[in-house]
Amino acid sequence: MEFNVKHGALETIKTGCLVVGINEARTLSGSAAHLDGICGGQISAAVKRGDITGKSGQSLMLFALPGISAQRVLLVGTGKAGDISDRDWRKLAQKVVATLKNGGATDAVLALAELPVKNRDLYARSRLLVETVRESLYQFDQFKSKKADKPRLKKCTLWSADKADADALKRAIAHGQAISDGTDLTRDLGNLPGNVCTPTYLAKEAKALAKQFKGIEAEVLDEKDMKALGMGSLLAVSAGSAEPAKLIRLSYQGTEAKAKPHVLVGKGITFDTGGISLKPGASMDEMKYDMCGAATVLGVFKAVVSLQLPINLTVLIASAENMPSGTATKPGDIVTSMSGQTIEILNTDAEGRLVLCDALTYAERFNPASVVDIATLTGACIVALGSHTTGVMGNNDQLIEQLLDAGKQADDRGWQLPLFDEYQEQLDSPFADIANIGGPKAGTITAACFLSRFTKAYPWAHLDIAGTAWISGGKEKGATGRPVPLLTQYLLNQVQG
Ligand code: BES
Ligand code: MN
Ligand code: ZN
Repeated sequence: MEFNVKHGALETIKTGCLVVGINEARTLSGSAAHLDGICGGQISAAVKRGDITGKSGQSLMLFALPGISAQRVLLVGTGKAGDISDRDWRKLAQKVVATLKNGGATDAVLALAELPVKNRDLYARSRLLVETVRESLYQFDQFKSKKADKPRLKKCTLWSADKADADALKRAIAHGQAISDGTDLTRDLGNLPGNVCTPTYLAKEAKALAKQFKGIEAEVLDEKDMKALGMGSLLAVSAGSAEPAKLIRLSYQGTEAKAKPHVLVGKGITFDTGGISLKPGASMDEMKYDMCGAATVLGVFKAVVSLQLPINLTVLIASAENMPSGTATKPGDIVTSMSGQTIEILNTDAEGRLVLCDALTYAERFNPASVVDIATLTGACIVALGSHTTGVMGNNDQLIEQLLDAGKQADDRGWQLPLFDEYQEQLDSPFADIANIGGPKAGTITAACFLSRFTKAYPWAHLDIAGTAWISGGKEKGATGRPVPLLTQYLLNQVQG
């Protein structure tokens, strides 16, 4: 989808469709009222007749209004009078796309810039609009013989009466498009089946992404390399699989070499059967999504590099397939991690922390400003926070605050869970330095406690995206691309202060 910016007299704009708002109090937006005056009151007449009430999710298409160059005018409901919520704002964008996607118009002019969205300036509300339009247009039909129709709508113009708004609107489009391109990549990778998206496939994708831009460093460690580094924990997860594990790194230098890089680490379990601690059968197919942390860091990397942000960014992916077999790791096995700490693997289904801990130790060598890991780590996180909110934990309050703030700004929210010392004892093992599970209580927190044993050298935060990375079951099933918006915002904020 192409986006651009326009100003000037609304009624003279030639377009397939002009989109304007009306609220529940049946008050026309400034633009809608302006058009109503020109076309002899046809819009307000339709409202009076009751063809539209202005409730969020409603819309009314009007054709060939006198005095207006646009072929159509789409009136959309903005909900309650006063400031619009993020949720209603997104619903409005979804409604616009649903109506226009396969309608007659091939382009639309959105005269929505004037509408008030709660706590969002022109840039923020316009960016959210761009991202929601892109999100609504996403399709994944790679494996369908019969492809979905390509949307007829090809171009959206953000219109504002005031030429002075152009800079903010252009920035909203550039950022919104980059975040959406990253999110689309994350969704595509997440939706791929486990027989296609293996650790080797992720490594190829990462290298291909590196080639798309200048000056990206790509490194792929194979099992031999990892063995030499002492990554006994990560290798314990791939031991039962025919697919070799990979540790993938991409580095982007957007500012002076001496500036410490921001490091993101993604969990890349391309399929999680649970291993010998085998998972039950129901919905096991969804464990193809267990690499969504990896897909997220690639999506964020793509967004940051395409915006050429003046920061240094390194992303690491710890990738393996978790399978049961005669060579698989068994409950009770003890392995030595790269950090030197020994781990008693009491449950082979707690494998995410096992691959992450070695990647987190490896991260030390990049002298990071901070490290954020992203992982579909615990079913317990879905119990605690459901599907709307990412779990946030870490060892540095300022970093956690920055991530929570970025989540609010990007409408991709997280919520902090505590990492109090008392929880650490749940990981005690009679035989090794640490056990890989902490019992039935506070599973999300004890998983993060495990990671905290490997992240003492730098400010660190952990995002548990088990609930937010994909939508389960049903018609809507699929990767969401979260938390690409949150993390890209966090990195944008490193530049903008
Ligand atoms: N990938 C899963 C977590 C998961 C489960 C995410 C369901 C989304 C939906 C992870 O590897 C796992 O199996 N975790 C176990 C940990 C337990 C054995 C301590 C879990 O959550 O049950
Ligand atoms: Mn598991
Ligand atoms: Zn897993």
